[in-house]
Amino acid sequence: MKDLNYIKTPIKEELSRFDKYFRKAMSSDVFMLNLMVRYLLKSKGKQMRPMLVFLSSKLTGGEVTEASYVAATLIELMHTATLIHDDVVDNADYRRGFLTLHKIWKPKVAVLMGDYLLARGLLEAVAHSQYQLLEIVSGAVKEMSEGELLQIEKSKKLDIKEETYFEIITKKTAVLIAACTKAGAVAVSAGEEVAEQLKLFGLNLGIAFQIKDDLLDYDERSKTGKLFGNDIRERKITLPLIYALKNSEGRDRRKVLSILRKKNKTDDDVRQIINFVRKRNGLEYAEKVMNEYKDKALSYIAGYTNNEIYPYLTAFSDFVTGRKK
Ligand code: IPE
Ligand code: IPE
Ligand code: MG
Ligand code: MG
Repeated sequence: MKDLNYIKTPIKEELSRFDKYFRKAMSSDVFMLNLMVRYLLKSKGKQMRPMLVFLSSKLTGGEVTEASYVAATLIELMHTATLIHDDVVDNADYRRGFLTLHKIWKPKVAVLMGDYLLARGLLEAVAHSQYQLLEIVSGAVKEMSEGELLQIEKSKKLDIKEETYFEIITKKTAVLIAACTKAGAVAVSAGEEVAEQLKLFGLNLGIAFQIKDDLLDYDERSKTGKLFGNDIRERKITLPLIYALKNSEGRDRRKVLSILRKKNKTDDDVRQIINFVRKRNGLEYAEKVMNEYKDKALSYIAGYTNNEIYPYLTAFSDFVTGRKK
């Protein structure tokens, strides 16, 4: 598998310019805000969304425009904001190998910081009169909130259906990735049909992305900088467990359900569930489905196989499904 450095080759300069945009878009004169901004900049993520915006612009328009930078900045701001909120919701201790904002500054501060970044992002689009971008991204953020709420609603019952799982992950994750690929095309004035194809590429890749994120929760050796097993602790039933539960009965199944219902799960509880999922082939199944979504994603850009950016997008897709972080 090619690494992120390879994928960044055709957009190296763009990404370093993006860093300046991103810093500027977050800066504030308010002391406490600035403190948190510095903390966030220190613990930056993989920046896969900006990469996807730039690669999509180059694929469909041959170049990156000013509008692509605004799109990348807005989307990374939204992503950062929703992660801060998500970590409050999930009661997560670590993100990107650092303590989460709410663990350091209290949940109320983290909620407000997330709001601040959301607003800064939207203003970025308004300041550049990129109203179509504004429409694409606010639509995505609306769906992300719905997805997160739907997940909370469904976590009350333990027999969540696969169909519901896909609805949740499409909304909470895939829609923003689809916004990256679509906005990348829109930023270079690609036609409507092209923008729609790119969107579908992103949407399906985004589903694969979240399935992988859920698989990494089962991987003790992952390098995500998040605490493994947190989904199980927070009673978040994801694809591997849905499959394992569906294909089990009797004592085994009842035991797992009773562990899941416990409020405070021990490390041993978590391990028992992980072993159950392994034994019932839940991980293999989720991997199979993930790869199907990746292939489906690539089918939407199959018309570009001769484009010089195409190999980087296939490498990007392979990274999504093969990553350890
Ligand atoms: C994490 O996304 C949130 C999900 C949608 C699963 P990333 O894995 O892209 O997060 P960072 O930005 O690299 O930390
Ligand atoms: C992340 O959801 C997607 C968002 C809406 C931010 P998760 O809760 O599954 O992702 P991680 O594992 O915390 O990154
Ligand atoms: Mg969550
Ligand atoms: Mg989370």
